[in-house]
Amino acid sequence: MRKGILSLTAAAAAMTLGLTACGDDSGTTTAQSSSSAPAASQAAAGKVGVILPDSKSSARWETADRKYLEEAFKAAGVAYDIQNAQGDKTQFQTIADQMITNGATVLMIVNLDSGTGKAVLDKAKSQGVATIDYDRLTLNGGASYYVSFDNTKVGTLQGEGLVKCLTDKKADKPIIAELNGSPTDNNATLFKNGYDGVLKAKYDSKDYVKGPDQSVPDWDNAQAGTIFEQMLTEQPKIGGVLAANDGLGNAAITVLKKNNLNGKVPVTGQDATVQGLQNILAGDQCMTVYKAIKKEADAASQLAIALAKGEKPAATGSVKDTESNADVPAVLLDPQAIYLDNVKDVVADGYVTKDELCTGDYAAKCTEAGIQ
Ligand code: BGC
Repeated sequence: MRKGILSLTAAAAAMTLGLTACGDDSGTTTAQSSSSAPAASQAAAGKVGVILPDSKSSARWETADRKYLEEAFKAAGVAYDIQNAQGDKTQFQTIADQMITNGATVLMIVNLDSGTGKAVLDKAKSQGVATIDYDRLTLNGGASYYVSFDNTKVGTLQGEGLVKCLTDKKADKPIIAELNGSPTDNNATLFKNGYDGVLKAKYDSKDYVKGPDQSVPDWDNAQAGTIFEQMLTEQPKIGGVLAANDGLGNAAITVLKKNNLNGKVPVTGQDATVQGLQNILAGDQCMTVYKAIKKEADAASQLAIALAKGEKPAATGSVKDTESNADVPAVLLDPQAIYLDNVKDVVADGYVTKDELCTGDYAAKCTEAGIQ
């Protein structure tokens, strides 16, 4: 474990924070905005506002984060309002203003970039609203808390995953293409630090050849396809693709398919989305990184609920804000690498269901992969 960073499970975090663990609840929704007022008997004084970033850069925000956060707030009987900025930074700020006007006492954000994220956090703080950076750290933002995964480790798992898949294929001096996440997302920087740490050793030893290396603005999957198409045109011998998440990976796989190269060129991913897992079952994607979003949502909502009740929860670790140099109180969770042989773990954990994953042609592949 790196110095200054504490990784722990949400349950442990909840215990350390002295909070009650959230139970499961039903009543999930895929709507873009959802809110609720608690029953009078259970009402806490505060109200939690959550702003999700978009619904295109990854399926997770709407299918997982919203669902688990809602369940936790409902179980605790705390009023909440979850909205999605749909990739629009102006809209992000408008939503934040409305939430504050409507009485939010806690604001939890997944920023679209650190600049607009900071503006929102500053405004909230000036109005006495408690702040939580959820998943993405707002650089120089000064949020009261940060809840995420160990994102450098996510990148390390991706780098190691690509090495494992290339080794399995006995690739000889493969040319590696890197499709990085958004340059405005601090997580993308951390992922890259992680995988470049692994790949640099391979470039230095001349086992691998460093190929094209580009960031994808806003994690835009369509742009990723265009970028990768250009990469492959300029360098037709690409032998491995480090894609920073499943959406970018799928964009590369689509291009590889057109060139009959899918399955031959290993591609990485992240988020254990249904699409990513299906690509793994099909043999087109080498690995993904599973981040148990329920644990992340639980840890963040525990903090938010405590803050809404006027408590001052203690964080269990901290991360360094590389811009302000401040130590931000943090909870960081542990990611897990997923390959064909442990796709079943993601189903067993309840993150995706067999019904959504094992459709059509994937049914037989699911059986082969031991998915019950
Ligand atoms: C998240 C990833 C996600 C990406 C695109 C990152 O900040 O950590 O899980 O795939 O954003 O939304």
